[in-house]
Amino acid sequence: MKREHDSITSVMMEERVFAPSVQFSKGAHVSGTKQLASITSRAAKDPVTFWERQASALSWFAPWKTAMKWKYPHVQWFVGGRLNASYNCLDRHIISWRRTKAALIWEGEDGTVRTFTYQQLHTEVCKCANALVSLGIQQGDVVGIYMGMVPEAVISMLACSRIGATHNVVFGGFSSDAVAERMNDSKAVALITQDVAQRRGEHVHLKLAVNEALKSCPTIKNVIVCKRSDEPTKMKAGRDHWFHDLINAASHVSTAASLPSEHPLFILYTSGSTGKPKGILHTTGGYLTQVAYTARMVFDLKDDDVYFCTADIGWITGHSYIVYGPLANGATLLMYEGAPNWPEPDRFWRLIEKHRVSIFYTAPTAIRAFMKWGESWPRKHDLTSLRLLGTVGEPINPEAWMWYYNVIGQMRCPIVDTWWQTETGSIMISPLPGASKTKPGTATRPLPGILADVVRRDGTPCAANEGGLLVIKHPWPAMLRTIYGDDERYLNSYWKEFPKKRNHPGWYFTGDGARKDESGNIWIIGRVDDVVNVSGHRLGTAEIESALVSHRHVAEAAVVARPDEIKGNALVAFVTLKSNVNADLQNLREELRNHVGKEIGHIAKPDEIRFTDALPKTRSGKIMRRLLRELVTRGDVTGDTTTLEDRGVLERLRVADEE
Ligand code: WTA
Repeated sequence: MKREHDSITSVMMEERVFAPSVQFSKGAHVSGTKQLASITSRAAKDPVTFWERQASALSWFAPWKTAMKWKYPHVQWFVGGRLNASYNCLDRHIISWRRTKAALIWEGEDGTVRTFTYQQLHTEVCKCANALVSLGIQQGDVVGIYMGMVPEAVISMLACSRIGATHNVVFGGFSSDAVAERMNDSKAVALITQDVAQRRGEHVHLKLAVNEALKSCPTIKNVIVCKRSDEPTKMKAGRDHWFHDLINAASHVSTAASLPSEHPLFILYTSGSTGKPKGILHTTGGYLTQVAYTARMVFDLKDDDVYFCTADIGWITGHSYIVYGPLANGATLLMYEGAPNWPEPDRFWRLIEKHRVSIFYTAPTAIRAFMKWGESWPRKHDLTSLRLLGTVGEPINPEAWMWYYNVIGQMRCPIVDTWWQTETGSIMISPLPGASKTKPGTATRPLPGILADVVRRDGTPCAANEGGLLVIKHPWPAMLRTIYGDDERYLNSYWKEFPKKRNHPGWYFTGDGARKDESGNIWIIGRVDDVVNVSGHRLGTAEIESALVSHRHVAEAAVVARPDEIKGNALVAFVTLKSNVNADLQNLREELRNHVGKEIGHIAKPDEIRFTDALPKTRSGKIMRRLLRELVTRGDVTGDTTTLEDRGVLERLRVADEE
């Protein structure tokens, strides 16, 4: 990021305001702006006491002695306290009426439904925990999990946390190289996988990828294979075990280990802007406190809700808001195995209708895909069970927000646009649905107990609507503790921008650019490495993309910069069109440039527009602008592409480039 200017020019203004209905507010955990303002201001004065109160909602085996120990840049929460995440998600519910409540309703891609009550899930987790112990896995060991979206993935995670093993989940769509790298970096001793995962009617051969990966993973001694198909699978004697064999032999009696609050719960790898993936380390007490609190408040979770989060378990959203947050609250989850457009583009709406889903949490990239497929698909289904919608993962363009609100929520459901990161572990900035006024495109304000702000490079606060850097000024319970095995990278990645100095406590830098409007709503402009300087203006590429996507023909857009002698940077827009667009591309290019000119201003007009049938994305759906940037600046891509979902996309973009 160039440093000659202190502020980022933000050019998008949104005036539409949506308040929750009186009826929604009345029944919500937090109702009305006044109540929220009073909780927030009290929490801001004393965040530690605020979080202590939230921590008391969990079950502890031993109380903590010190609520927070902060030794820049390392934090510990609830020191001296002992607890177990699996106990909090299961055992404490089975001693109440929730014993017979559905914890997990799972639907396979083929339509098979499996339902686990809290009691049943507890039994499976206990058996799995005993199976791990029978293989010699101990407290403190790292266990890899490389699976699709099956109940056994949740069971495995909770079995690890039950015995104090640290799980390291690798998204089931990653390659064998990615598995090997993550297993080696974390020194995992065992790996839980499946023979195959089911995706769009096809088998993804996870076990084959594991065989390949394990050629270079010397620390892994045991592989546990969950059977999902009748295909024959080669098992290596002494190393590979069938999940069902181990479970059948295991006792269902297992006592959850009493673990220190700071015991490592999991490592989850996430891509940095450069270099190898970062192993984000989360611990038990603080993480669970904040995910439980935010799941309850942000999703307004009630006992009669059916909650459906479409994220994959291999992503932080799957960890925090499929597994730990909702289960800690005794909620009923719907988990779906497959693709949203299988067998047809209405699968999610079908699931919502069939299971009477009341809370639906997905990503803007999915919403844009739904828009592209057309509203006839959701219109076919009864979506009246929905009462709340959520999004996460990237700024949602107002166009997509309005579509979500009108077509899916039918103007009845509040939308919670939740800002957070793998590193924050938990939602940090978000509306509370019964209290906040929302505007399309903003995650609104920091949650109670979170001191987030937008500042200039020199640390002074930005004026209203002046773009700057998003920082967090006080440690929070679910904060990452370090980058596993690389504490120096931890310091450099998050604490170097605003380091501790004599008169400065040191702030966490999120890597995001943002602006705060006059009402205190925070608008994410994008990652600062996605901020470009054009003719002296620093523009968030996300805003230009949002303008492009608001054009009737555009499905998705990614904007990156390439150096330009005159302007400093020229903007290159990669654009995918909606299906059935039959326009003259040369005219459309001009039309789109003018459209951006109209929406944002002349300075933001892309210099070049390239049409493409797909954009390079991570498995979680984030557009990998870094690769596009390389492509437009060097003409080729040399950086790390292990997190790319479909390598073919790059090939096609390269070819298009030569044409
Ligand atoms: C972006 C996902 C705008 C942001 C939970 C952040 C968002 C990065 C939002 C973290 C949102 C996530 N509005 N931007 N509601 N949510 N982001 O680690 O740039 O996969 O820093 O965590 O996604 O992505 P990650």
